[in-house]
Amino acid sequence: MSGSRLLGSGSALPRRVVTNDELAAKVDTSDEWIVERTGIRQRYIAGEGETTATLATDAARAALADAGLEARDIDLIVLATATPDNTFPATATKVQHALGCNGGIAFDVAAVCSGFLYALTVADSMLRAGNARRALVIGAETFSRILDWSDRTTCVLFGDGAGAVVLEAPGENSEGRGVLASRLHADGAQHDLLYVDGGPSTTQTVGHLRMKGREVFRHAVVNLSEVLNEVLEEAKVSAEEIDWVVPHQANARILDATAKKLGIPPEKVIVTVQDHANTSAASVPLAFDTARRDGRIKPGDLVMFEAMGGGFTWGASLVRL
Ligand code: UT7
Repeated sequence: MSGSRLLGSGSALPRRVVTNDELAAKVDTSDEWIVERTGIRQRYIAGEGETTATLATDAARAALADAGLEARDIDLIVLATATPDNTFPATATKVQHALGCNGGIAFDVAAVCSGFLYALTVADSMLRAGNARRALVIGAETFSRILDWSDRTTCVLFGDGAGAVVLEAPGENSEGRGVLASRLHADGAQHDLLYVDGGPSTTQTVGHLRMKGREVFRHAVVNLSEVLNEVLEEAKVSAEEIDWVVPHQANARILDATAKKLGIPPEKVIVTVQDHANTSAASVPLAFDTARRDGRIKPGDLVMFEAMGGGFTWGASLVRL
């Protein structure tokens, strides 16, 4: 069994940190409520000159440096985002230009919070199929720009940021390493539980995020547990063999409940939601990069990525570093 190899990672955050107390000065909420219900203590919010493309480009540069590669070594960019710089062209093409990658393939994937899992799986498939040799897989968002800042049930939950990984097509030395198994799902019947109430073809506006949080929570625990088991089964790996779970960082309580259902000890779950809040497609690669850089995740580790978000969409991917 061998899949595309993960050669490096990088991440980027906006300059400005916003604490729960700062939010509570403007919105009818409290640090106590936010911490108790979600685990979030702060989030980063993009300012002037910071966009999804600039954050993505910074994360991609860091990932290239980590992998010891140059922009010219990349012939595929798959960027997951629900907050593109423009309706078109794809933000991936802006990143391609900013990095100085010439030619190759660049496109966006829209799967909201599970966007990174979708992008990783698409890039891995394209690399295995021989469409490209080395890919940048990026999750980048500026959710602060689609939040309704008068809706306390959603605006306290999200933040901005980007994360990226470099993937290489499987080669002679990749036996047992790389992306070992991935599973993706979607259920369009759940549209109304998590969506944006605008768009070019409907309202000709960007719109704002709307979420029925309690119901999303319930679905998330069930769907994530199921897809994690599917991936373990496909890879013929037991939950005990996993070194690290890197989940979508929506809510510390969802992370706890999902890990408990699978029998994975909490110390094997990477949790960054306290620092970054929910950064949608950026959250998994951002958490992964954070844990690699602080020395927790090491070469050779078996890592499970998982996420669920609007659509609904959800998925998981098992990677041997
Ligand atoms: O990334 C995509 C996937 N998204 C998710 O996975 C999010 C999943 N959902 C969640 O994380 C949680 O459901 C939330 C954090 C969104 C909400 O937590 P909850 O424990 O489900 O709270 P709730 O919605 O049941 O609300 C409880 C109470 C309500 O008041 P009443 O009706 O009990 O009087 C809310 O009005 O908390 C109130 N409330 C707030 N209070 C202070 C809601 N938002 C706030 C707030 N500050 N920001």
